Amino acid sequence: MIATPAHAQGAITKDVFGTLTDGTKVDRYTLSNGQGMRARILTYGGIVQTLDVPDRKGRPGNVVLGFATLKDYVDKNGGPYFGAIIGRYANRIAKGRFTLEGKTYQLPVNNGPNSLHGGLKGFDKKLWKAEPVRDKDTVGLRLTYTSADGEENYPGTLQTTVTYTLTKTNELRIAYQAKTDKTTVVNLTNHSYFNLAGEGSGDAYDHRMEINADRYTPVDETSIPLGPLAPVRGTPFDFTRPHTIGERIRDNHPQLLIGHGYDHNYVLNQRKPGALTPAAQVTDPRTGRVMRVSTTEPGVQLYTANFLDGTLTGTSGRTYRQGDAFCLETQHFPDSPNQPTFPSTTLHPTQTFTSTTIYAFTTT
Ligand code: BGC
Repeated sequence: MIATPAHAQGAITKDVFGTLTDGTKVDRYTLSNGQGMRARILTYGGIVQTLDVPDRKGRPGNVVLGFATLKDYVDKNGGPYFGAIIGRYANRIAKGRFTLEGKTYQLPVNNGPNSLHGGLKGFDKKLWKAEPVRDKDTVGLRLTYTSADGEENYPGTLQTTVTYTLTKTNELRIAYQAKTDKTTVVNLTNHSYFNLAGEGSGDAYDHRMEINADRYTPVDETSIPLGPLAPVRGTPFDFTRPHTIGERIRDNHPQLLIGHGYDHNYVLNQRKPGALTPAAQVTDPRTGRVMRVSTTEPGVQLYTANFLDGTLTGTSGRTYRQGDAFCLETQHFPDSPNQPTFPSTTLHPTQTFTSTTIYAFTTT
C-alpha cells in the first residue's frame, strides 16, 4: 500500500480579508487540493480572488484576474465583476423589464437602457454565509444567500446556494441551487476572468479557444439578442475548431464592432437540456495550461475583457488592459424572460433550480 504524503491532503483555511464600512468582517477561504491547485474565495460576492494551477513544469500560477484588497472590490468591481457570483439574473434583461404571470416588473437599469448582472446591488456585492465542506477526495466551500422578495425588484424570496469544490484531479466545480416562494426568473453564473499564462501577464490573444457551439445569439447595439440564433460557420464566431482568441477579433464583423471584441452568448451543442456538456477548451501555448469547461447550462458568454482600459490595478500590482483575459460565463441566454423561443429562466415555487459548471485544468 502506498501511503499518501501529508502534502497530498487537501486543506481549507480561513483569514479575515477585510472589513466593510458598516463594520462587517469579510472572510477569505483558501482551498488547496494537495495537487498544486489552490483557490481563494471571499464571502463578499462569493468572489474567486485567486486560482492557482500548475503549468507544464508543475509551477503554480494564478490564472484569474482580481484585486488585492476588499476596498478595491467594493469600490471598483461594479464594472468588471472579477470572479464574482452573478445573480439574480446574469447578463442582460432588455430595458430591465419583463412580465410574469400577467404582472410586469421593472428592474433598475444599470447598463445603457438595460439591466445587467442582477442590477444595482446584485449577488456580486452581497455577503454570503460560508461553510467549509470536504470529503476524502474534495475540498469545498458552500455559500448561501437569501435574497428578499422584491430585492432589486425581482419577485420572490430566493434562497441561493453556490458550492465551490476542488477535486484531486484539478477541477474547480461550481454547483448552483436556488428555491423561490413566488414565481420568478433566475440565471446564475460566475464571472471569472481567465488568463492561463498568469494574471497580469499581458493579453490572452494567443490562447487557442474551442467552443462547442454551432450557433450564437447575435445582438442589437445595446447587446440584447435580436431573437433568431445565427450559425457561426463562416464567421469570426466559429470556434468549433481551435482558433486563437486574437486571430479574428479585429475583423470588420458588425457583431464584433458592437461588442468591441467578443461579448456574445454561444448556444451549446447540448445532447439534451440539462445534460453536462463540454462547452469550451482553452490552451495557452506558453505555459501549456489547458482549461476545459463543461456545464449543464444551455449557453456560455464569451467575453474577451474588451472594456478593461488600463485604469484597474490587479492582485499582483499589474495594470489590466483590453484583452488581458477572457470570461466563459456559463448561463441561460441573455434576455430570456423576454424571448419566448429561448430556454426558460422562470422558476416556480414547486421547483428547485440546479446547475453545475466544471473548470478542469491540465497541461499539454
Ligand atoms: C458582459 C459585458 C460586460 C462584462 C463586465 C459581461 O458578462 O457581457 O458586456 O462588460 O460582463 O461587466
